[in-house]
Amino acid sequence: MNVAVVGATGAVGETIVRVLRERKIPVERLGLFASHARNGVLETSTEALRPFETVFFAGSDEASSEFVPPILERGGVVIDNSSTYRMRADVPLIVPEINAQAIQSQHRLFPVGNCTAIILCVALAPVRDTAGLRSVNVATYQAISGAGRAALEEFDAGEGAFVRNVVPKVGDFGDDGYSGEETKVRDETRKILDLPGLPLYATTVRVPVRTAHSEAVFFETERETSAEQLAAALERAPGVVFHRSGIVTPRDVEGTDDVHIARLRSAGDDKRHFQMWVVGDQLRKGAATNAVQILELLIARGMRASPFDLRPAGAPQGPSTGSG
Ligand SMILES: NC(=O)c1ccc[n+]([C@@H]2O[C@H](COP(=O)([O-])OP(=O)(O)OC[C@H]3O[C@@H](n4cnc5c(N)ncnc54)[C@H](OP(=O)(O)O)[C@@H]3O)[C@@H](O)[C@H]2O)c1
Repeated sequence: MNVAVVGATGAVGETIVRVLRERKIPVERLGLFASHARNGVLETSTEALRPFETVFFAGSDEASSEFVPPILERGGVVIDNSSTYRMRADVPLIVPEINAQAIQSQHRLFPVGNCTAIILCVALAPVRDTAGLRSVNVATYQAISGAGRAALEEFDAGEGAFVRNVVPKVGDFGDDGYSGEETKVRDETRKILDLPGLPLYATTVRVPVRTAHSEAVFFETERETSAEQLAAALERAPGVVFHRSGIVTPRDVEGTDDVHIARLRSAGDDKRHFQMWVVGDQLRKGAATNAVQILELLIARGMRASPFDLRPAGAPQGPSTGSG
């Protein structure tokens, strides 16, 4: 399999390359692309991407808008970390622990959800499955590397707006007063959990932490349950490490792939309100690991890209689906 990573010099792209190696994905040729060429990295262009059947995008929205469509037209597979295509009705938003079944053989474009939303969804899916979800209120504590390599370098140099500060603005504010990040967390959580009307209110905040996002989550269930019942569900949940006691911090989880949950507690006597503390490495589970897990799912299902073909292995040969 020939695989390319667009944005390979960035925080997410570098992590994708690392995770591909760690998880021993059978890559014959790995192409590294960025906005301009240097040190084994190529300048991104439609022509230069042509030999690659699977392309990870971890660049800008502009890069995804320009370079993704020609890859799809020639039958390639795209796994895209930008927000460009996430809310399109005809593409799934896959978090493998939650909705792998949403992948269909005709899908070739796989956006990777917002990092805060992915971490939140891994924690909320077992709650949804145990007692239903009536509403969610989340306040986030988001790491600097979530803003990309340049922000992290500035922070490491002791410069910039995030040093010794807490900034309640991630993305631009919309007319409704919500930031871009808050809107993404709401919309994408609804899509991933398949709860389109879920009332979800987010306050997203950048904090002076290098890597891993934390989330203080207050949720209301549809049905009565107990902290004990939810704890049992969270202990069984894939991709979750549940801490029955003590705390977990971003430093504890940096470099790991699981979503960690601690401080689960009942928030009232009505058996429907609860709170929990959720932490996950947003460069890994929130982006790169989730992206590579999607490729693993495609490989496991025998789906593959070629200039003319993307069907489950063994499916009858039909007419060409791409322009080549
Ligand atoms: N950071 C996170 O935690 C996180 C989590 C989830 C999703 N995301 C999303 O993932 C994407 C990458 O984020 P990041 O934090 O890794 O950003 P980053 O550290 O700033 O890296 C951006 C990368 O994209 C490349 N790039 C920029 N414009 C390009 C263009 N027009 N053509 C080709 N390559 C281009 C850059 O290349 P040069 O080095 O040549 O400039 C660099 O390799 C963004 O869409 C972001 O929203 C980020």
